Amino acid sequence: MRAKRRFISFYISHPGGKEKELSSPPHFDPDVGTEELGHLEMVGSIVQQLTRDMTEEEIKKAGMEAYFVDHTAGVYPQFASGTPWTAATFAVKGDVIADLTEDLAAEQKARVTYDNILRLSDDPDVNNVIRFLREREVVHFQRFGEALRLATEKMDKKNVYAINPAFDK
Ligand SMILES: [Fe+2]
Repeated sequence: MRAKRRFISFYISHPGGKEKELSSPPHFDPDVGTEELGHLEMVGSIVQQLTRDMTEEEIKKAGMEAYFVDHTAGVYPQFASGTPWTAATFAVKGDVIADLTEDLAAEQKARVTYDNILRLSDDPDVNNVIRFLREREVVHFQRFGEALRLATEKMDKKNVYAINPAFDK
């Protein structure tokens, strides 16, 4: 795992980026939310294993000078572009249709982030873990899709929007 460190900043991006693992759990059900936090731990462990004994030369080769100056080799949640993770990336509306649709989008965004990491990363040890995590996002998307279908079936079968019985009589 030590040889290929060029993409560490992208690995860090996954847990810390907008609508990624760290931004997903608050509006998920407890099971999925707990699993996402587990993913955060897995990605954090990968980053820690890749960075713990880097030399100054390897830090420069990996393009991690700016990160190193700010955080040394600590795992700090941030976007691939360097913006720190913020609670402002949480999206919770308190409406079952709005929140499940947000969950579906969050799973797809997480999946695309993993796709993009796999496009760039050539480290087989890392990629095996990333592929596993990517599969989980696909499964989550399926589950949220089923939840949205069940919710809409209970509201109005013929309406794509699905009425909110509290307001749409
Ligand atoms: Fe997920």
